[in-house]
Amino acid sequence: MGTPVIAIANQKGGVGKTTTAINLAACLTVQRQNVLLIDLDPQANATSGLGVEKAQGQSIYRALLGEVQADTLVRPTAYKRLDIIASEVDLAGAEVDIARADNYLHRLKEALVPVTNQDRYDFIFVDCPPSLGILTMNALTAAESLLIPLQCEYYALEGLSVIIDLVEKLRTSGTNPGLRLEGIVMTMYDGRTNLSQAVVQDVYKHFGNRIYETLIPRTIRLGEAPSFGKPIIDHDRQSVGAVAYLQLAKEFLQRRGSEESRTFPFQDESPIAAAAEAEAAQPESSEELPQ
Ligand SMILES: Nc1ncnc2c1ncn2[C@@H]1O[C@H](COP(=O)(O)OP(=O)(O)OP(=O)(O)O)[C@@H](O)[C@H]1O
Ligand SMILES: [Mg+2]
Repeated sequence: MGTPVIAIANQKGGVGKTTTAINLAACLTVQRQNVLLIDLDPQANATSGLGVEKAQGQSIYRALLGEVQADTLVRPTAYKRLDIIASEVDLAGAEVDIARADNYLHRLKEALVPVTNQDRYDFIFVDCPPSLGILTMNALTAAESLLIPLQCEYYALEGLSVIIDLVEKLRTSGTNPGLRLEGIVMTMYDGRTNLSQAVVQDVYKHFGNRIYETLIPRTIRLGEAPSFGKPIIDHDRQSVGAVAYLQLAKEFLQRRGSEESRTFPFQDESPIAAAAEAEAAQPESSEELPQ
């Protein structure tokens, strides 16, 4: 079967793609899942957000051009079970270079064969750039499913049809007939505002149970974690953001019907697992946004 590849995409900028990629991946390792995160965005936010140094020539770029095998680009992170293929600026040139190559939509899919064949990971996540350009199209061609982070804001639904239509086109054209919608994650939810609630209801009307029940709150801690190069469960394990992403990871696994989904506690030495165990022992956190 090969390892499931899940593209995290939304052509809108700043909606929580990278935050979700980093934190869902990290929280899945707490559930004993082995995860590879591919940073497909030349901005390299997932790379720096996990505290990984950019290294020249180590992005997926050369694998997309067929120059190296993708498995040679995999690097460990500070966290057990979580590996990364980092990004660096050379990826910015990929849009142009790949467009000229044969079979340009299938470049990532082909590049990943050495990794997906190894059965080394339970999931491979691809953090996409904020566009529907060639890099995102490659992610959607390589992916089994698409996970869309949607910000709880007034214009949340605007533009969503564009990416949904693209998925449909990739399916019907035969480029990726099996591509499906993994789910929609509502991010930056602020329960104190009517707007956030109204947006969730509105999206629910259109997409029903494709939306995860777990809502990701807008919190200071989630916003600052990348500047420490840490996933939220390492940065502040008691925060509501950490609880939310841990919950999202569980819901993600439950929805996929994975038998690997387990609950706390775990005997695991990694800081993330330790954080999660402590989390499980804690009462509800009371992190508040400043008024
Ligand atoms: N739940 C949240 N609470 C507070 N801040 C958040 C939250 N989610 C994301 N942020 C912050 O919002 C900004 C945008 O988030 P993020 O980088 O995850 O979005 P993105 O969709 O990947 O952006 P881009 O389109 O540029 O790749 C970042 O500064 C991030 O730290
Ligand atoms: Mg991003």
